[in-house]
Amino acid sequence: MKFFIDTANLDQIQEAQDMGILDGVTTNPSLMAKEGITGTDNIMAHYKKICEIVDGDVSAEVISTTYEEMIKEGEALADIHPQIVVKVPMIKDGVKAMKYFSDEGIKTNCTLVFSAGQALLAAKAGATYVSPFIGRLDDISSDGLRLIDEIRMIYDNYGYETEILAASIRNPMHIIDCAKIGADVITSPLASIEALLKHPLTDSGLAKFLEDHKKANA
Ligand code: E4P
Repeated sequence: MKFFIDTANLDQIQEAQDMGILDGVTTNPSLMAKEGITGTDNIMAHYKKICEIVDGDVSAEVISTTYEEMIKEGEALADIHPQIVVKVPMIKDGVKAMKYFSDEGIKTNCTLVFSAGQALLAAKAGATYVSPFIGRLDDISSDGLRLIDEIRMIYDNYGYETEILAASIRNPMHIIDCAKIGADVITSPLASIEALLKHPLTDSGLAKFLEDHKKANA
């Protein structure tokens, strides 16, 4: 399973990259705004900086909502760097745009996916990635992981190559459950990735090993 980090924060991206486990980055307009990145030129320059930190795919989201505008914006984003994946919302014009990008060999990430039907459309349109938002479903008392399971079954039934990119991760258990189900990718905040490291027996075990070594070598 690939690990993407879901942030536009360069320090956190660098930190995950330095751990050696990072396969890519996802951003969205809210995450860019959170970092104070505004204006087309600054936004484009920021995506380029992210691409220079990581080796894998970097999702850059369009802010247009019509087919013609999405094509124009998506092509400009794709021109920034070969690692850019154009992130397109699951709306009718977005499906049409993803088909266009797919035919042109431009990678896409279909975002804001909340149902199996939407994921089926994304695959039919040739999306490289589909992003079901599991945390936001959980937030409204729906079952985000069940959606990952359903999409896995549907894609496997027909051999769709669209990769399931589990998004809106809220905790380390989401990551583990996605791995059990067979999601291709998770995109997560750094905190949930780092939480995978934690176990009290690791900490106490290490402390004892070091203490015993110190005593024996005193
Ligand atoms: C997906 O790519 C989105 O950027 C993201 O995972 C949304 O997560 P949130 O629900 O925590 O905003």
